[in-house]
Amino acid sequence: MSIVIREKTFTLHTSNSTYMMQVDSFGYLLHLYYGKKAEHAPEYLLVKKDRGFSGNPYDANNDRTYSLDVLPQEFPFDGNGDYRTSSLIIRTKEGIYGCDLRFVKAEIIDNKTKLKGLPSMSENVESLEVTLEDSLLHLEVILSYSVYEDVDIITRSVRIINHGETVTIENIKSANLDFVSGDFDVISFCGRHTMERIPNRQKVNHGIYKISSKRGASSHQYNPALILCDSNANEMSGNAYSMNFVYSGNFEAMIEADQYGQKRMVMGLSPDYFSYPVEHEDIFYAPEVMMSYSSSGLSRLSQNLHQGMRKYLIHDPMVGIKPILINSWEASYFNFNGESIYQLAKAAKSCDIEMVVMDDGWFGQRESDNAALGDWYVNEEKLGESLASLSSRIHDLGLKFGIWFEPECISEDSDLYRKHPDYALKVPHRKYIRAREQLVLDFSRKEVVDAIFKQVCDILDHASIDYIKWDFNRSISDIYSSTTPQGKVTYDYVLGLYSFLERLIKRYPKLLIEGCSGGGGRFDAGMLYYTPQIWLSDNTDAIDRLSIQYGSSFIYPISTFGSHVSAVPNHQTGRITPLDTRGVVAMSGTFGYELDITKCSDEERKVIKEQVATFKSYASLIHEGLYYRLSDPLHDDIGAYAFINEDEALIFAVRIKNQASRYAYFIKIEGLEDDAYYQDEKGQIYDANILKTQGLPLIVEVGDYQSFTIHLTKIKGEKENGKN
Ligand code: GLA
Repeated sequence: MSIVIREKTFTLHTSNSTYMMQVDSFGYLLHLYYGKKAEHAPEYLLVKKDRGFSGNPYDANNDRTYSLDVLPQEFPFDGNGDYRTSSLIIRTKEGIYGCDLRFVKAEIIDNKTKLKGLPSMSENVESLEVTLEDSLLHLEVILSYSVYEDVDIITRSVRIINHGETVTIENIKSANLDFVSGDFDVISFCGRHTMERIPNRQKVNHGIYKISSKRGASSHQYNPALILCDSNANEMSGNAYSMNFVYSGNFEAMIEADQYGQKRMVMGLSPDYFSYPVEHEDIFYAPEVMMSYSSSGLSRLSQNLHQGMRKYLIHDPMVGIKPILINSWEASYFNFNGESIYQLAKAAKSCDIEMVVMDDGWFGQRESDNAALGDWYVNEEKLGESLASLSSRIHDLGLKFGIWFEPECISEDSDLYRKHPDYALKVPHRKYIRAREQLVLDFSRKEVVDAIFKQVCDILDHASIDYIKWDFNRSISDIYSSTTPQGKVTYDYVLGLYSFLERLIKRYPKLLIEGCSGGGGRFDAGMLYYTPQIWLSDNTDAIDRLSIQYGSSFIYPISTFGSHVSAVPNHQTGRITPLDTRGVVAMSGTFGYELDITKCSDEERKVIKEQVATFKSYASLIHEGLYYRLSDPLHDDIGAYAFINEDEALIFAVRIKNQASRYAYFIKIEGLEDDAYYQDEKGQIYDANILKTQGLPLIVEVGDYQSFTIHLTKIKGEKENGKN
């Protein structure tokens, strides 16, 4: 049994972790424990003591030792005397803040209750629902927990059912974790356009550490994921906890160290621009948070998330390894026609590439990035043929075919804007903010979503399209909707986006969608539900990508990283790296190309063909194996990582810093089976114990950015026989 209700104590077990909460004598729901597998409820952790300026609930009479300001709580709300970060702020019609939530019931259900309009991990799983109530407001708050035992993940979400008069939610979080003791570091993933999800680790001190987005999307700047770990935790040891928000819009995640040094970890919607009225008998669903725990460091924590998302979150229309693609963007930007795309496909085919993607520029009067978003009809004049003809010519070559869309945006220079200027988010009588010379459509309005959906379907229905790249190239500002109440706009926008994607995957069950937002500006668990791969970054430089992939690997599966080999000098950094190295780096993801392959030399095409074959032979190990970070490319002279399954290990490494007379790097290989022997392709035999402690020497050659690929196979029975 993964969920146990024993009187007023509720326990959730995964294979290696336990989560406990308890209802106290006043009906408040307290948090007891989250960590390594355990059985007995540690009530002794609820230390009660009279503490100054921490008030006592009325029901506690004169017991000054009871205060919700210091006790660990499951779902802290404003109004109960807890001054720490709260998970719920309710305002009544009269403008009164606060509520008082007491326990009503707890029940175990076979399947998770569907989060209406929101993505979530699989619903087919045992779940716990704890109902709390404010009896004055007639407000029910249901905390929902689901247990994914084999991957050590527990999800949480909250729904609010209003049986009373209209109230407004001013702030709601989906998960709160209180720790009564511990010396912790927080790791967040921060960045900017073309340099996303760079890990940022720091000690948790007094005060509130906060990351958030109010850009309408989860953002390049802060990713909606947090890790809290022992301050001495590393890749292979220490306690580590994570929260991933299954949501793609404005969020807020915080770690607070309170007056006694207790820690609180919180994840949920951002209160910025959010003030959400819930009418009588309406239900509000707060998005899901995935929580995971590892007692053996950060590698294991990441592996839980990788496996959990792959197995229970990501909707995958092309089950297994996706087609190796070539994308036209860095090959030709807006400068292409049907024939040049066909020639790109033909050259790609000769290298065994499997799909060609025609990026931005095939629709409306789109000759540059300042026009035509919103006009989703094929520019046959530019292509020189219809999309149906181009797609069938490409299919005849034996390749799949994909196209680019940016459904959420509108150019002022577009037919759609000329007809429906009100479709764009703009504040009346104010001058608006332009970004990339475009505005954002008001996806909080169903008629706007429907209008774009219809256009996109008209395209997909009249040509044979296997893949679309769904882009979103600006942050939202000017939050005003002509019909949606203003405090609902940012949340309803994301619901509009999800409803579009939901309808799309239902209508085209075989269509592969790659997410994108100027690269990795909306790389989150919410989008991954619909888009099994997301363009990791607009930065295709192999050396920068090592850092971006390193950071992203803490919280997202490698199989989801859209990654391509591009031309040199690199278009973002100007750096020149060897083709081999670009191949090795791009293989740690979906793998593909983004260069004009028609201009490659015969020698380069030969290398590309070999890379395609190499990737195909390792693809399932890369995508399904356990991932180990073997170095930190932000600080070390080499970027190195391994993919390991029961029988094999694949190690990729790239030298970042070149230094004279350096003869080798010794890379310690974690994750190999203890006491086992492994053999490389040259027949060299290694003892796993020695590879772990002394490392594998990577011999340095003269030249920049050398890469290494080492494939090890476990030798069965050798050790037992005493041979090597
Ligand atoms: C964004 C994407 C790029 C490309 C361009 C097209 O920047 O991240 O890959 O598709 O848009 O305009």
